[in-house]
Amino acid sequence: MEEKKQCKGCGGALPFVVGFVAAVIAGWVLFPGVLYSKQNQPIRFSHKVHQEQGMECASCHSFREDGSYAGLPNNEKCMECHADVVGSDPDELKYVEQYAKTGKEVPWLIYQSQPDNVLFSHKAHESFECKSCHLEVEKTDTPPVYYENRLSGYSKQTMKMWQCERCHAENGVSNACHVCHK
Ligand code: HEC
Ligand code: HEC
Ligand code: HEC
Ligand code: HEC
Ligand code: HEC
Repeated sequence: MEEKKQCKGCGGALPFVVGFVAAVIAGWVLFPGVLYSKQNQPIRFSHKVHQEQGMECASCHSFREDGSYAGLPNNEKCMECHADVVGSDPDELKYVEQYAKTGKEVPWLIYQSQPDNVLFSHKAHESFECKSCHLEVEKTDTPPVYYENRLSGYSKQTMKMWQCERCHAENGVSNACHVCHK
């Protein structure tokens, strides 16, 4: 009698457990794998190597006179040293041949790029360390892998709205929608 009862119970719970486990695997493991495409930076640029040359962050990431952020360095900057090949690294050769010599700018991937409807100015955030919002690429020899959301086209590493709002709340800055959205 007892055994029969247990089997009935199994028939009810087992498919549920199997289905639940499958859904968890699909949701946590497979779906993100399908949702995000992995990309590498076009050039394996090493922040470490360039800091060892004594270069300051601001020599490549600086403000313009109007306070807007110039963002990433262009060929003009890199060619101060790489108009011709100076070392034996294959990515330096690639940089010189494909970009410096052709005049084409490197299409760097921006981990922290925001949707167009978000307002952001580096000037207002000048007092914070880069790492409070960015990946610590300055410590790397090889830039991190970039993950793009296939549905939205946005970078996975972008700061989320709640993260911006949390710091604003801590600093008494308004979180009214129009502060950050057009
Ligand atoms: C020789 C020029 C150069 C110097 C000096 C330099 N960077 Fe960069 N930086 C780059 C290039 C090129 C990229 C784009 C490729 C990449 O993300 O690795 C970049 C990307 C970044 C990004 C990523 C932005 C994003 O979200 O995609 C951060 C943050 C950054 N640098 C911080 C720093 C800091 C902090 C320093 C100083 C310790 C520094 N950089 C020094 C050239 C430079
Ligand atoms: C002030 C001079 C200077 C500037 C400006 C500079 N580099 Fe370099 N770069 C060097 C030196 C020196 C090396 C080391 C060369 C060697 O011995 O391999 C190097 C190495 C490299 C390498 C190979 C090593 C590695 O892993 O990074 C690449 C690729 C490179 N640079 C790309 C760039 C790009 C892209 C820019 C512009 C964003 C840039 N560099 C700006 C001086 C410079
Ligand atoms: C309070 C957060 C915050 C801080 C602090 C911060 N950034 Fe950013 N950064 C962002 C956001 C957000 C973007 C994306 C802007 C966009 O897509 O409109 C960005 C974009 C960038 C870019 C890509 C080019 C561009 O202009 O969009 C670079 C390079 C960069 N930041 C470098 C730095 C460096 C270097 C520091 C430190 C000196 C720094 N950031 C400090 C949030 C921050
Ligand atoms: C680490 C803390 C911090 C983070 C993270 C942060 N903010 Fe801020 N933000 C501030 C502070 C502090 C101010 C006020 C600066 C001032 O008044 O000088 C501010 C001001 C602003 C302003 C008003 C700028 C102006 O010109 O008055 C905007 C817009 C803004 N932040 C957008 C954002 C967005 C978008 C993000 C996320 C991508 C973000 N912030 C993340 C601290 C932060
Ligand atoms: C401190 C800055 C900040 C404030 C304040 C803010 N947002 Fe956002 N919001 C963002 C950022 C950054 C994103 C993009 C990243 C993300 O999706 O989390 C975003 C994304 C969104 C999106 C999704 C848009 C898309 O393109 O995916 C909506 C909708 C939105 N916000 C509505 C609001 C509303 C409504 C308010 C007011 C109640 C508000 N936001 C206040 C920073 C802010």
